[in-house]
Amino acid sequence: MAGITLEQLAKRYDDAVQAVFPLDLSVEDGELMVLIGPSGSGKTTVLRMIAGLEEATGGSIRIGGRDVTTTAPRDRDIAMVFQNYGLYPHLKVRDNLSFGLRVRHVERQVIEERVAEAARMLGIVPLLDRRPRQLSGGERQRVAMGRAIVREPAAFLMDEPLSNLDAKLRIQMRNDLVSLQRRLGTTTVYVTHDQIEAMTMGDRVAVLDHGVLQQVGTPRDLYDSPCNAFVAGFLGYPSMNLLPGTLSTSSGVPTVTICGFELSVPMDRVPVEAGGDPRAVVVGLRPEACEEARSTRLAPTGARLSGLAHRVETLGADVVVHLRFGCTSPDPGTTPPMVDEVGTEGTAGELVARFDRRTSTREGDRLDVVIDTDRLIFFDPGTGDALR
Ligand SMILES: Nc1ncnc2c1ncn2[C@@H]1O[C@H](COP(=O)(O)OP(=O)(O)O)[C@@H](O)[C@H]1O
Ligand SMILES: [Mg+2]
Repeated sequence: MAGITLEQLAKRYDDAVQAVFPLDLSVEDGELMVLIGPSGSGKTTVLRMIAGLEEATGGSIRIGGRDVTTTAPRDRDIAMVFQNYGLYPHLKVRDNLSFGLRVRHVERQVIEERVAEAARMLGIVPLLDRRPRQLSGGERQRVAMGRAIVREPAAFLMDEPLSNLDAKLRIQMRNDLVSLQRRLGTTTVYVTHDQIEAMTMGDRVAVLDHGVLQQVGTPRDLYDSPCNAFVAGFLGYPSMNLLPGTLSTSSGVPTVTICGFELSVPMDRVPVEAGGDPRAVVVGLRPEACEEARSTRLAPTGARLSGLAHRVETLGADVVVHLRFGCTSPDPGTTPPMVDEVGTEGTAGELVARFDRRTSTREGDRLDVVIDTDRLIFFDPGTGDALR
């Protein structure tokens, strides 16, 4: 078992694309670290550098305290699980599992024990004599995992290992994988672009964008205290509302004005970071922090927005309501809703709220929404950084 430490790790392809900017990241021994970011953000490149499949153009990699920056992949004591499984089609499952051990000249007895143990753990004993083409996607995924397990490596590196599976199987495999990782206690770096996987699987999550590490923290940290608007908008579904607003503290009671609606802001939510007063801000507000005025349990703080529900999506456990402020058309189906002068810029004037499934809100309804102002977050409109 071993931790992984990346120091100023960087990658530039062909002297052209800077795929990864100098990045510091420490994965603790036994930890499951999720690396998440949109497509092209450099996740695979980071993972392949840790594996030794891609040469770093800067910085260093340590696994278990040993500097492996220039070590050959096979001597790094890691096992990688790929999105396309990478199984040998002509080999039986049993031989796919044992292959990595046989090429390392591990004793036959040990190989048999480890294959049997891994197959039992993954529930693939009945499949041992089949070939990959005789397996479903989920079964292939298990075999790919098994092949990593039998190696008993210092770390697992997984690159979107579940993305070829259908939604239901993905959820099941996600849980199986976490249980397995906990049982084995093997340090794991898990790459995904799926924020639900990241939030549910990671002990900690590292967010990449354009090759730059944005933030590292527990799922809870990232969700509640995103360091910038990118992280705020990337994690959570529906995404956090990010609305242009004006923050003012000069009148004694701090307020923020969003599309003409003035909301009072609790003192401890007001950024202490220097800035003008009033100042332009981006207001971050989670959909679940917006409640229906007629059924809210929030104290009547006067933090209200009202508008037209132009789209209502039923998710099952709850209902997502897309609200437009200042809409004048009562029938969004026939006439495109008109938005008042205020809030016509960008996505301003639109708020996504998440209500309880018992809501009676229907498309076309006008309604008042109360904001849980304890959950307001402000971002700098220029840099996108959270204002502290
Ligand atoms: N072999 C390569 N040669 C040149 N550029 C590459 C190569 N592999 C990836 N890139 C570029 O590096 C960036 C990061 O890619 P990648 O690490 O695959 O991102 P992700 O896994 O997050 O989708 C992208 O801009 C991609 O086009
Ligand atoms: Mg990738």
